Amino acid sequence: MIKILVVHGPNLDLLGKRETDIYGDETIDIINDEIGKAAKTDRIDIECYQSNHEGDIVDKINQTDASGILINPAAYTHTSVAIHDALKARKLPSVEVHLSNIHAREEFRHKSLIAPVVTGQVSGFGKNSYLLGFKALLDLIKG
Ligand code: DQA
Repeated sequence: MIKILVVHGPNLDLLGKRETDIYGDETIDIINDEIGKAAKTDRIDIECYQSNHEGDIVDKINQTDASGILINPAAYTHTSVAIHDALKARKLPSVEVHLSNIHAREEFRHKSLIAPVVTGQVSGFGKNSYLLGFKALLDLIKG
């Protein structure tokens, strides 16, 4: 069975309460449920993981037995050489997603250290960024 690892970075545990004008009303559980539903249709196994700690995210990427990674690195998008290196080392198909359009926000959000080491990026579609990214990742893995 194909397995996909879904990684949510820092502060995404606060979704639904945090800057809802930017990130929407949906909680991380709702997003995980929707990915789960899409996965079930395709009979895909998913593991959803959230952490506020960079090293824990690196450990998860390094140790996963998944065939692909869907990741919203959140604030670490703009700062984390460690997550960049982990994704580069694993060479798994991977998609970076963002709820908001990072390119239309503050300048410090325009740069992603993750984008060069993932297969592609989906940004700006709220919860649908995850669902579009999931579909793209699945197509990649299925080949
Ligand atoms: C985010 C965008 C990041 O710039 C921000 O730090 C986040 C969430 C998004 O999903 O839009 O925490 O990754």
